[in-house]
Amino acid sequence: MSRIYVHPLPVRIWHWINAAGFLALLVTGLQLRYGVLFSLHFKTVVGLHNSIGFALTANYFVWLVFYLFSDRITVYHPDLDPARHYRNVMRQIVYYGHGIFRGDPNPSQISVHDKFNPLQRMTYQLVMMLLVPLQFYTGIVLWDLQRFSGTVELLGGPRVVSTIHVALTIAFVVFLFVHVYLTTLGRTAGQHIRAMITGWEETEATPAGSTTPR
Ligand code: HEM
Repeated sequence: MSRIYVHPLPVRIWHWINAAGFLALLVTGLQLRYGVLFSLHFKTVVGLHNSIGFALTANYFVWLVFYLFSDRITVYHPDLDPARHYRNVMRQIVYYGHGIFRGDPNPSQISVHDKFNPLQRMTYQLVMMLLVPLQFYTGIVLWDLQRFSGTVELLGGPRVVSTIHVALTIAFVVFLFVHVYLTTLGRTAGQHIRAMITGWEETEATPAGSTTPR
């Protein structure tokens, strides 16, 4: 068993601020829609939701700029061979759905420049490059409908923008349940979560190079 440094500090800072902010946005968002969670003035909750939203938008750039200017961007490189990508994703799904309960070895081994299995890589790409930016975009439009009236009209009105915003929130809640469950599937339940705190992940692979089947 060796240890490799897979989560650099900017990624860890981004991640935990993002996780805490996401939960705060969820609570304040539910309060805005249904007003049943606590007895704060509507305007105060709007202010809170907006401020946290802007803080998380800025925080997103910590993640983006770090990866754009770091050689660690390789962890997000897609597999350009669709057949191999499909095979590896299926192998990972079969492992999570079946193999793991029989004690089979994980088909993916991590390395510094290849720390995600094919399923994680695909999901995190979708979340970070499409869903999260779209959520911030619709949030900013909803923050000032008048200022962005052109965009609102183009998208089909405030109801459409609001529906996209809520639909994305539901997708994030589903993601969060699956995400947290999958992060508990290390050698111990806390192994991967501890790694996202310290940066260091335990691995059975040799520290150098990728051992993920490609
Ligand atoms: C309390 C809630 C959360 C826990 C315990 C958690 C845990 C973790 C852990 C352990 C990792 C390391 C990689 C892995 O094992 O998959 C990770 C990575 C990641 N998480 Fe979370 N997470 C949480 C919330 C969130 C939320 C709300 C998002 C929403 C976007 C998110 C997005 C990501 C992404 C994109 C990565 C990959 C980061 C990178 O680029 O290296 N997580 N998370």
